[in-house]
Amino acid sequence: MSTEAMSARVGVLIAGLNGASANTMLAGSMGTNDVGARRLGSIIHGAGLGDHGLFADETSFVFGGWDVDGRTAADAATTHGILPVVDESTLERLGEIRPFPAYVGSLDTAEALQGGHTLSLGSAADAVAAVVENIQAFQSANAVDRCVVLYYASPLRRWQQATADLDETRLDELLHELRDVPSGLVYALAAIRANCAFGDLTPNITLEVPAILSAAERYGMPLAGRDLSTGETLLKLILGDMLRRRNLKLQGWYSANILGNADGRILSRPEHRSTKLEDKLSSLPKVLGYSDFDHVVDITYYPPRGDAKESWESVDFLGWLGLPMSMKINWQGRDSVLAAPLALDVVKHLDFALRHGERGLLGYVGAYFKRPLGCDQVPFHEALTNLRKYYLPYYLETPRDE
Ligand SMILES: NC(=O)c1ccc[n+]([C@@H]2O[C@H](COP(=O)([O-])OP(=O)(O)OC[C@H]3O[C@@H](n4cnc5c(N)ncnc54)[C@H](O)[C@@H]3O)[C@@H](O)[C@H]2O)c1
Repeated sequence: MSTEAMSARVGVLIAGLNGASANTMLAGSMGTNDVGARRLGSIIHGAGLGDHGLFADETSFVFGGWDVDGRTAADAATTHGILPVVDESTLERLGEIRPFPAYVGSLDTAEALQGGHTLSLGSAADAVAAVVENIQAFQSANAVDRCVVLYYASPLRRWQQATADLDETRLDELLHELRDVPSGLVYALAAIRANCAFGDLTPNITLEVPAILSAAERYGMPLAGRDLSTGETLLKLILGDMLRRRNLKLQGWYSANILGNADGRILSRPEHRSTKLEDKLSSLPKVLGYSDFDHVVDITYYPPRGDAKESWESVDFLGWLGLPMSMKINWQGRDSVLAAPLALDVVKHLDFALRHGERGLLGYVGAYFKRPLGCDQVPFHEALTNLRKYYLPYYLETPRDE
């Protein structure tokens, strides 16, 4: 492993620190010494990029962040109960991680708006300043070399403000005028101003706002997003590509999802799921090259399943002479466990980009996202090729560490 990557302490600050996904990532990565188990589910390892000394080791990650749930990460892990075992010493270390108070605006969920552990401030500009201070305090308390900030909180409602012309000057004016801008914008702007890379793992508009893109360019900060692709979209990218190459005409794809965790509860509300549905619906037409088919995606909150999400896919298509056929797929996943290795990978890519002076949207990490920004949506194998191509010159330079 390169000395630079190996010797670093990387700060990972997460908005939504005590949520199921973020908390599982912390508990799993802090509590497992089994290197083989750690690699499962990681695209970095799947793409053969893991053994070239390119990336910081996740054991060097120092976690912190923000949440409206002010309990320690140990209490959150016990409540979520997603990992079958979290040993005493990991619980002790998780017990030392407590979130900063969260910034909550009116587009956040009702639960967040009622949560007690929040910043109370005059304007959104104060919130950006407070989040910058949190980051700086975290950096000096933990002596970290670099920091990555992730937005991993609940999906927001749609912002009614037109954003296409929202440049930095206008955003600054709005931040002073309003108490209420989407929380994603506050965390993203604060991250960039505090010289941190920023990733949006959720279905929010943050990384499409021109002010955020130009701030990242100006400060020289890398960005990645949006909305982690953990299961259904991956299937669509792969099977959609297969149908296209085999010249089978898709007639319709029906996806039914059941999900019993807090995210499932929030996504069962139309106002919080509209951008998620948009992301879930956007991939197939791009991979197939046509959109004249029925595409229905249902997300149903079904509490008994907790984090053990399930989807049924009915794929109806026409074969030779126009004769109909269909494929049925039942995917039984674990929401937070599917996401954790991908979120850790995203941190590693963003940290690599910080070290190598990359700025703005990292299009080469498109394989990680339902709606990849900074690149076209392409079949999964092409997205992996793009990822490998980006790293090729670097791993040709570095000796293998095995
Ligand atoms: N797990 C996956 O497979 C997956 C895949 C793609 C996207 N996502 C997205 O990741 C996000 C997190 O998912 P989850 O299952 O962990 O949800 P969750 O509901 O368990 O966690 C969300 C956390 O965010 C906190 N929060 C809410 N508003 C906040 C704010 N303004 N500031 C700081 N914290 C805030 C909540 O208190 C909660 O702890 C969701 O937006 C989800 O759609 C998850």
